[in-house]
Amino acid sequence: MKNKKLFLLVCMLFISTIFNKLSAQTSNKLMAEQYRPQIHFSPKAHWINDPNGMVYNKGIYHLFFQYHPYSTLWGPMHWGHATSKDMIHWKEGPIAIYPDSIGTIFSGSAVVDEHNTSGLGLNGKAPLVAIFTQHNMEGEKAGTNTFQNQSLAYSNDDGKTWIKYAGNPVIKNPGIKDFRDPKVMWYAPAKKWIMTLATADKVTFYSAPDLKNWTKESEFGKAAGAHGGVWECPDLILLDDKGKSRWVLIVNINPGGPNMGSGTQYFVGEFNGKIFTTIQTDTKWLDYGPDNYAGVTWSNTGKRKILLGWMSNWMYANQVPTEVWRNAMTIPRELKLKNVGTTSFVTSTPVTELSKIVKNQLTVNNIQVNKSLDIADKAGKISLPCRINIAMDTIKDFSFVVCNNLGDTLLIGFNKEKNEYYIDRKKSGKIDFSKGFAAVNVAPRFSKNKKINLSLIFDVSSVELFADDGLTVMTSIYFPSKPYNQIHLNCTDKLNLSTLQYSHLNNIW
Ligand code: FRU
Repeated sequence: MKNKKLFLLVCMLFISTIFNKLSAQTSNKLMAEQYRPQIHFSPKAHWINDPNGMVYNKGIYHLFFQYHPYSTLWGPMHWGHATSKDMIHWKEGPIAIYPDSIGTIFSGSAVVDEHNTSGLGLNGKAPLVAIFTQHNMEGEKAGTNTFQNQSLAYSNDDGKTWIKYAGNPVIKNPGIKDFRDPKVMWYAPAKKWIMTLATADKVTFYSAPDLKNWTKESEFGKAAGAHGGVWECPDLILLDDKGKSRWVLIVNINPGGPNMGSGTQYFVGEFNGKIFTTIQTDTKWLDYGPDNYAGVTWSNTGKRKILLGWMSNWMYANQVPTEVWRNAMTIPRELKLKNVGTTSFVTSTPVTELSKIVKNQLTVNNIQVNKSLDIADKAGKISLPCRINIAMDTIKDFSFVVCNNLGDTLLIGFNKEKNEYYIDRKKSGKIDFSKGFAAVNVAPRFSKNKKINLSLIFDVSSVELFADDGLTVMTSIYFPSKPYNQIHLNCTDKLNLSTLQYSHLNNIW
């Protein structure tokens, strides 16, 4: 009897090992197409845009996303769903929220309703509540101005299944065509929920005791910041500033970004539970590259604020040359405040969890570069994904030349005279799928420090540049005809690097 049980147990273990191996092999194959991001979240198949409903609960980071499950083009939106323990390795699950007679499911947020203020929790337990825009396509076609309304769905099984709230929509459109992307947070001083909603060329704040009954509080932004396009996907967060806290309002805008198309601006200011104010007069951008859009932060992560963006741009997102899937997310970034003189900036740096996939890290100190350094001379074979960190004690021109033997070339560098970082993808490979794609994108250097540090995170079809501890950030996608496998660091004057660090990054699938 005992032996029989043991035999059965061994058989079951054997079968489950084979099954796991097979499904890992299938998933590796699936995730190995040309351009498939190896260290960024992308869906197994079909179209994605904005990250949605990002909430941390019981050790799991939830990522919902704008998803068209039947096509690689934008269409009727659903909320797809993926989960992760570390924001780096993702498991894609079934579709979480489907369109209904009120409309398709546009962007929005999710919260843990800790005190069950909504009453939607089972037996008084804390439910997850998602707050999103429903976009009514018939209403849009009919030329009305009221086709975007705010709705709720709730989950009592930790985000696996979602039930639409029977009283939807909870905020009816007052006649504003672009009325969307609710981001909700708990405002502890007044024990109420605050919703930041994008309303055409400004944001509108609402409050509610219970997530269901919303009252308009105030508006912000008609005369502030950039207005080259519609305001979308806002987020109001509290960031710690050396013990003092400051409010930061993130506002995505499309078009009208710093390098054409979509972009993410922010305002540092004050919020009193009703009104947001700022003394900021200039426009500030979280990322100067063309490919970080619709970024908002995870809720329920305490003081830690982590932003995730959609790694594309509405200028060409529907045309990029991928076949099975279209578009991916950025590496999650931790946001902090930093003062340069008397000006407050928001810095972004990759989450420390990225270290989980760092492999074969090689660090070399005190290198003198005369004209050109082949990174392979120090690191051995170059293959993407990888990370390169450099630090230098002087401010000089330099450029990384990233290429393959077909001549596809991406340039990433610093121009001292202009005090600008740049990413030039004019000859980066496939570029002709959209007019605006082949460009040199630039970003100001804000640091007054006499030293430069730079971290470049390369995936097979993207690079993320973090300069000066995240004061200047750029994200750019690219599509070489063959994978890049050479990286040179070029300079006009002799360049002294105090550190050069090269690491391979393990794929996350
Ligand atoms: C931003 C956005 C949102 C909208 C969603 C639709 O990229 O336009 O404003 O909710 O995408 O997919």
